[in-house]
Amino acid sequence: MASELGLTPGKAEIKRFPDGEKYLRVLSDVKDQHVAVIQSMHHTPDEFLFEFLLIVDTLKDLGAKKVTSFIPYFAYARQDERFKQGEALSFKTVSKLIEAVGTDEIYTIDMHQHRVLKSADVFRIPSHNLSAMPLLADYVRKEGRLQKPLVIGPDAEAEQWAKLASDTLGTDYDVFTKKRFSADRVEVSPRRANAKGRDILIVDDIISTGGTIIEASRILHSQGANQIEVACTHPILATDALDRIRGAGVLNVIGTDTVPGPISYVSVAPLIAEHIKKAV
Ligand code: R5P
Repeated sequence: MASELGLTPGKAEIKRFPDGEKYLRVLSDVKDQHVAVIQSMHHTPDEFLFEFLLIVDTLKDLGAKKVTSFIPYFAYARQDERFKQGEALSFKTVSKLIEAVGTDEIYTIDMHQHRVLKSADVFRIPSHNLSAMPLLADYVRKEGRLQKPLVIGPDAEAEQWAKLASDTLGTDYDVFTKKRFSADRVEVSPRRANAKGRDILIVDDIISTGGTIIEASRILHSQGANQIEVACTHPILATDALDRIRGAGVLNVIGTDTVPGPISYVSVAPLIAEHIKKAV
């Protein structure tokens, strides 16, 4: 991102004490500076969250004028409701911590907002939720494997991404409905899409267990879909999700580097760089 902007990135040292605690030292002079902190909470979310809290708190303590945080993958956003009595409202707790250390402004990318519909409902600081979907759709268009694909959002929330992707691709979209029974069991039903003979692009914010994509692909295949590709912003790909999705007859799975991994073909660096330019 610094190279996109022609800037030199600041330096910090992060290591572990022998007892497992984290050690952080900011090596750049940040006094009176406007600092952009970019930290994704993938794979080991607790660790990345805690590093983030140490970084921002230290920057503010060292006299940074303003800290704008970019959290490409915002973990814990799916636990935004008390589904069972006594559960933690993790989304709220994480948001409170981020504000408590002195973050002045926050940018997220396709943050899960199923029930909480706007960033402003969660944060009291200025907040912006960007979307990587136009970048993903542009990648699919340039790869050129799909002919006039029907874009499918596997659940109601995915309509926003299906619309963005179909706008970029100049094609049509539809959205399925989804019922979740547990972390790894969902039931997806079609609304009106008729996939017969069509190339398909399924779009979603997150692929975790892959259950949602596998269910949607099963329905699309049963409707006689031609080839199916999948694009998602955050390819978490828990355990063997990628193999299972491929095993369900999906030709290609494309993700971004908000969660770095084997299918992170699309970088969100240009998106973040564009907004750093606007923010400073
Ligand atoms: C949930 O509503 C999200 O938008 C994704 O559809 C979900 O997180 C995917 O999870 P999984 O891959 O485990 O079905």
